[in-house]
Amino acid sequence: MAPLTITSTAKLASGKAIPRLGFGVWDSPSHLTTKSCLEAMKVGYRHIDTAQVYGNEKEVGGAVQQSKLSREDLYVTSKILSPGSDDAATYQKCLESVHKIDGKDGYLDLMLIHNSTSGAGGIKLMWQAMEKLHQEGKIKSIGVSNFGIGHIQGMKEYAQIWPPMVNQLELHPWLQQREIVDYCHKNNIVVEAYCPLVRNQKAKNPDLAALADKHGKSTAQVLVRYCLQKNWVPLPKSDNPGRIAQNADIYDFELDKQDMETLSGQGQEPALVMAVDNQAK
Ligand SMILES: NC(=O)c1ccc[n+]([C@@H]2O[C@H](COP(=O)([O-])OP(=O)(O)OC[C@H]3O[C@@H](n4cnc5c(N)ncnc54)[C@H](OP(=O)(O)O)[C@@H]3O)[C@@H](O)[C@H]2O)c1
Repeated sequence: MAPLTITSTAKLASGKAIPRLGFGVWDSPSHLTTKSCLEAMKVGYRHIDTAQVYGNEKEVGGAVQQSKLSREDLYVTSKILSPGSDDAATYQKCLESVHKIDGKDGYLDLMLIHNSTSGAGGIKLMWQAMEKLHQEGKIKSIGVSNFGIGHIQGMKEYAQIWPPMVNQLELHPWLQQREIVDYCHKNNIVVEAYCPLVRNQKAKNPDLAALADKHGKSTAQVLVRYCLQKNWVPLPKSDNPGRIAQNADIYDFELDKQDMETLSGQGQEPALVMAVDNQAK
């Protein structure tokens, strides 16, 4: 395998390439989001992860417009949490994300169903709206987030595009969700890791701190590197320019087999955000 670099990509079932490192903007206050995204682009990130419920799609769009990079060199994801009242309203809801982020003639690289809480009917409405936008070239790839095996299997009944191209999950050493991750990898579904830094809650963990010392890196850097070596697409978030740069400065060291086993051997803990539920509802 070629060594990982900040320009490494993974290939989606759509044939499109997705940058292996992303930049999260959940909880980024809207007055900082554009600035933070531009800062991230400056140090080499090319992939931004937002969502309708984050309330900062317009500010992400501001960074896309202000960036000196061409649109094709950037990768932007948003997510829809709940459908509109019918097909047309759901389609419109998705289209609004495209317009907020990339203007009337623009596109999104990836849109995800944020989670499964809308139930089977809601998931179907959102998936079909996203399929239509995909056919129209307004959303280049489509996927899901926080979905278990049951939800993904359930989509087979109506999906023209199956499997979803991505499943975004909370993933880090303390929450590895092995069953759904294996299923995704076997089915050519790219796995994205949210909360890859465990929101800095494990910075004092002795095993993690020892690995950071061993490699002369921060605990956050070890965690992002761990995700990459697990074949996940990590989406670290920061609004601090120093930490934005630090979290992407992870290509000058490698975790060895023993290091990976130490991290993978951590006790599993409850999800910070949402554990997947394998029962389709
Ligand atoms: N699909 C979903 O349901 C879902 C759920 C949650 C998150 N996400 C996505 O995944 C992204 C990442 O998850 P997250 O934001 O929840 O958690 P995270 O990336 O694990 O952690 C972010 C937190 O860690 C701090 N931090 C960042 N870099 C640091 C460093 N080098 N050292 C110490 N602290 C550092 C940040 O503070 P500062 O900003 O002050 O640096 C922030 O408080 C989100 O932004 C979002 O895009 C998706």
